[in-house]
Amino acid sequence: MALTKLLLTDLASDVKYVPSNYIRPISDRPNLAAVDTSTVGSIPLIDLEGLHGPNHSDIIKQIGQACQNDGFFQVKNHGIPEAIVDNMLRIASEFFQLPEAERLKNYSDDPSKTTRLSTSFNVKTERVSNWRDFLRLHCHPLENYVHEWPTNPPSFREDVAKYCTSVRGLVLRLVEAISESLGLKRDSIEKSLGKHGQHMALNYYPPCPQPELTYGLPGHTDPNLITVLLQDQVPGLQVLRNGKWVAVNPIPKTFIVNIGDQMQVISNDRYKSVLHRAVVNCTKERISVPTFYCPSPDAVVEPAKELVNDKNPAVFKSFTYAEYYEKFWDRGLATECCLDMFKIDRTML
Ligand code: OGA
Ligand code: NI
Repeated sequence: MALTKLLLTDLASDVKYVPSNYIRPISDRPNLAAVDTSTVGSIPLIDLEGLHGPNHSDIIKQIGQACQNDGFFQVKNHGIPEAIVDNMLRIASEFFQLPEAERLKNYSDDPSKTTRLSTSFNVKTERVSNWRDFLRLHCHPLENYVHEWPTNPPSFREDVAKYCTSVRGLVLRLVEAISESLGLKRDSIEKSLGKHGQHMALNYYPPCPQPELTYGLPGHTDPNLITVLLQDQVPGLQVLRNGKWVAVNPIPKTFIVNIGDQMQVISNDRYKSVLHRAVVNCTKERISVPTFYCPSPDAVVEPAKELVNDKNPAVFKSFTYAEYYEKFWDRGLATECCLDMFKIDRTML
């Protein structure tokens, strides 16, 4: 009976054991006891205060080092008003508390839909399910998509639109800084993204009776350019550092930034799109809100010309973002990065 539910939220509260389709093979379980949860091992925290002032060159250097060595960093003093962030998390929580029938109005299992509520990752192609429901939205240009978004809770569109617009501002400042840190013109990367794209997910991870058997999201890299993640106060995100899974414990008033596959391509392999995953826990629901900033589907992605020379030959082919994105959803969240399919095979040259 319970297993016929479309969404995990409506099943999770009724089960004492994880249903078999969520159970990972023994070789592919989170091994939570081996995770480094100390703060010393965690990712850098960069203060963006003064990015356009006295601390400019120092901050650019910190960002460049984090992109190269960690693929992940946190930012504070990012300029996004606290009220906008609080409203975003509150509206996400209210959305997932709506009655099942109300939530199901947004349900779709078709990854090509620009607004949809779904579960796990890609229910059409995956063999094992993940302990997550998610609402996925496209949000740039806003006027093309906002009319598709949920109207319940009543302030959903207004609150989420404010959040998207603010985060876009932060992303553009980060993309300029990253461009500069690579020795490129400040607007070089931003100009290579066509009309730009921005997607977001509202991730909802219900409490799980046996968190050691399953994932909220298994290890993956993000297919987009750069991700800005907002998480609530419940831990769950883990990043692979030096071969070890490290917990990224929530710090109030910060965002987590990570390099996606397209930035790895543009930087010609200098900046790394790093494996990360979300684990679940027995007692607390968890909400996270990633913003995935990306090229528009028609944009051609390739290593920046200035970063390719005799000593540093191009590591990746040119492709459109549409080609890449399609491959990403088709093959599922396999640990082998989708990027490998777009590498230049030097043994053939
Ligand atoms: C993602 C992701 C991590 C999290 O949605 O791509 O990595 O903490 N989420 O929810
Ligand atoms: Ni991710």
